[in-house]
This record gives sequence, structure tokens and C-alpha cells, in this order.
Amino acid sequence: MTPDLPRLAPGEVWLVGAGPGDPGLLTLLAARALEDADVVVHDALVDPGVLAMARAGARIVHAGKRGGRPSPCQPDISARLVAEARAGARVLRLKGGDPFVFGRGGEEALALAAAGVPFRIVPGVTAGIGGLAYAGIPATHRDANSAVTFVSGHAAPDEADLDWEALARGSPALVFYMALRRIDAIAARLIAHGRPPDEPAAIVSHAATPRQHVIETTLAGLGQAAREAEPPAVIALGPIAALRPRLDWLGKLGGG
Ligand SMILES: C[S@@+](CC[C@H](N)C(=O)[O-])C[C@H]1O[C@@H](n2cnc3c(N)ncnc32)[C@H](O)[C@@H]1O
Repeated sequence: MTPDLPRLAPGEVWLVGAGPGDPGLLTLLAARALEDADVVVHDALVDPGVLAMARAGARIVHAGKRGGRPSPCQPDISARLVAEARAGARVLRLKGGDPFVFGRGGEEALALAAAGVPFRIVPGVTAGIGGLAYAGIPATHRDANSAVTFVSGHAAPDEADLDWEALARGSPALVFYMALRRIDAIAARLIAHGRPPDEPAAIVSHAATPRQHVIETTLAGLGQAAREAEPPAVIALGPIAALRPRLDWLGKLGGG
């Protein structure tokens, strides 16, 4: 039985996570928002199968930052959400994964709050948990790690405001987002701070989509592996990555 869910009302914005790909990973609230929205403002990483669930007649607006199209800047996207809501539209802001994990959902929510626009946050399955799960890699395992750290690899290690020594020594499992271009330098930094070069690692590209591809490697091998991998990708480092050969449920089912 479907629970009694709220409806996306005119003049409201729902900031919704679409998960890493597979539309089956949408929450019931995300599906409800797709049913109700007059306008869907989405990122590049939202799966086409998810967008296909939008109500017939809904306006679909691409606000992604890739794909060769001119990229709207963040203040423009926030301003558009405010303007659509003030014009009385039911606005669905749809983001890949979870809106509050490396997704700039915090900035957009702050802009809506500042403008006095009513909004709801609908969490989604983040790539660093759900995407890894589709590759048979648990974010935590009792025998492997009692902590996991999500790291943005967007900036070069020298420019990132991260304590690499603390990360290398303190977190038994690291999960990197947006790191394909920098992972060579990041791996060198972690090894310099004492992380074993043969530590298990995996790169999961297009996780939870029909194009999912996984490269099993080691910390020292990540740079080379990254040159062969396609974005978007999440990178797992630590003993959790070594569980994949036994837990690759999707491969055993004939997918991924
Ligand atoms: C701007 S961040 C957005 C993260 C998103 N909010 C989340 O919670 O998953 C983009 C990065 O997320 C990761 N990512 C998102 N979807 C992915 C997927 N289907 N497969 C692998 N990585 C993905 C990649 O690291 C990509 O560079």
C-alpha cells in the first residue's frame, strides 16, 4: 500500500535526489514529485529513464554542467528556481545522487530560504554508497572498516583544503567523487603519507546504469586505471574494494 505522501504544491520547490542511475532507486517522494511537477530542472547526471517518468506536459529544463552545452552558473540556476516558484509553478529540482552530497543542494536550499520560497529536501541514493553497492562494494563492512570518508577529488591535492596525512592515516576506507583527473596525484600523496601501494581499489564508472563498468586495481595502479575509465566514476579505496569479486551480484545476474 502506498503511504499518504505530500503533494508538490504550486509555488513550492522540491530539491530531490534522483540516485546514481537506475530509476528503481528513486524514493517514493521523488516519484511523486515527477508526477506533480510543472517544471523539472535537472542536472546532467540524472538518468534519462528518470526524466521519462515526468508528467506529460511538464517542462524539462537542463541545468547541467557538462555535455558540451553552455553551462548555467549556480546563481542563475538558483534564481531560476526562485522565479519559477514565484510564478506559481510546481518546481522539481532534480539532482543526481543525493542533493546534499557534493551536489550544491546546500547552496540552492540557502537561496530558496533567503528568498522565502517554501521548499522540501528529498534525499537520494548517493553514488558513493549506492553506486558502489551496484559494483558489489559495501561502504562499510564489520571486518574491514568502522569509518568511511567521502572525498571530493575536484581540486588538485595542493589546492584542496584537505589534510591528506590525516586522511591517509585516519580513514580505513576512502570514497572519491569527481576524482578521475586527479587520482594519480592523490594516490601519490596517500602513498607518501604511508598508505600501502598495493591497497585494494576499484573505479566504478556509470554506476547503476546499463553502462556500468568496474576496474579492480590497487592504490598504485589507480592513475593508469583512471586513464582507461570513463566519467562519471566513483573510486573506492581500502579493504572494502577487495570484497567485490565475491559480492558482484550484478555481474552474476548478467548485468554490469
Ligand atoms: C557533482 S558530483 C554529484 C554527486 C551526487 N550528488 C551524488 O550524491 O552522487 C558528481 C560526481 O558524482 C559521482 N557520480 C554520480 N553519479 C555517478 C554514477 N552513476 N556512477 C559513478 N559515479 C557517479 C562521480 O564521482 C561524479 O563525478
